[in-house]
Amino acid sequence: MKEEFLTNEIIQSATDALRRRFSLSPRVGIILGSGLSAVAEVVQAEAVIPYPEIPHFPHSTVEGHMGRLVVGHLEGQPVMVMQGRAHYYEGYSMAQVTLPVRVMQMMGAEILIVTNAAGGLNPAFHPGDVMIIRDHINLIGMAGLSPLRGPNLDRFGPRFPDMSAAYDRELRALARWVAMEVNIPVREGVYICLAGPSFETPADIRFLRMIGADAVGMSTVPEVTVARHGGMRVLGLSGISNVAILEGEGPGPSHEEVLAAGRVLAPRLEAIIRGVLRQL
Ligand code: HPA
Repeated sequence: MKEEFLTNEIIQSATDALRRRFSLSPRVGIILGSGLSAVAEVVQAEAVIPYPEIPHFPHSTVEGHMGRLVVGHLEGQPVMVMQGRAHYYEGYSMAQVTLPVRVMQMMGAEILIVTNAAGGLNPAFHPGDVMIIRDHINLIGMAGLSPLRGPNLDRFGPRFPDMSAAYDRELRALARWVAMEVNIPVREGVYICLAGPSFETPADIRFLRMIGADAVGMSTVPEVTVARHGGMRVLGLSGISNVAILEGEGPGPSHEEVLAAGRVLAPRLEAIIRGVLRQL
């Protein structure tokens, strides 16, 4: 069923189901995007739960998204890792896409580390680059698709949540420091979320650049909106899987290209995430 709004009952029933499966209380929730699932393999797992076994959880239908929750320890931190996510374009409501974030918070997570594969808009970016998200443009939300639409869940946060510092300054500085220590060059920039699933036209790309976006994707912003509504601290990392193509520059991006770049990006993101977890 396509639930348009989340209710406390829906969140509670998914949370109760997880509590029956493991006793660990995660401090950090991690969401792994397209082609980045490998990071979950290094978790010392206490439980691995396929999404279909969790009430109301959206199942990922996209190749490159494993669709299971891995709970355990990574670098000594209790973590809850989503190996793959659901997207709006798959037919889920914005509320459904963000249910896992509510559940992570109910289980105890105070920090969300969210990753994605993204297209580079900034002309200086190359495939394989890692971008620390400094801020986002909620293009999909401006058009009305907010996961917070509907009755406000007062137990999590206010009706009109502040988004002026969505990506935690300290966590960004920590990620930059870790990346330097492990010799991974990182960019920092603005991520913009479109609904997808079609990639952008050259005119779209010119527009997105003009309004100040450095990387474009089809996820992350709804999850971050919900995490910030609940007061979680957020670190966002984009893996640049391809760069934006303007007229006459050759064929545009493909999902295969995105997944292939993931093989390069996953170890880089893993190194940064592990370093951040070690320092928390
Ligand atoms: N555009 C939108 N989403 C994406 C892209 C892109 O070029 N690459 C990976 N996700």
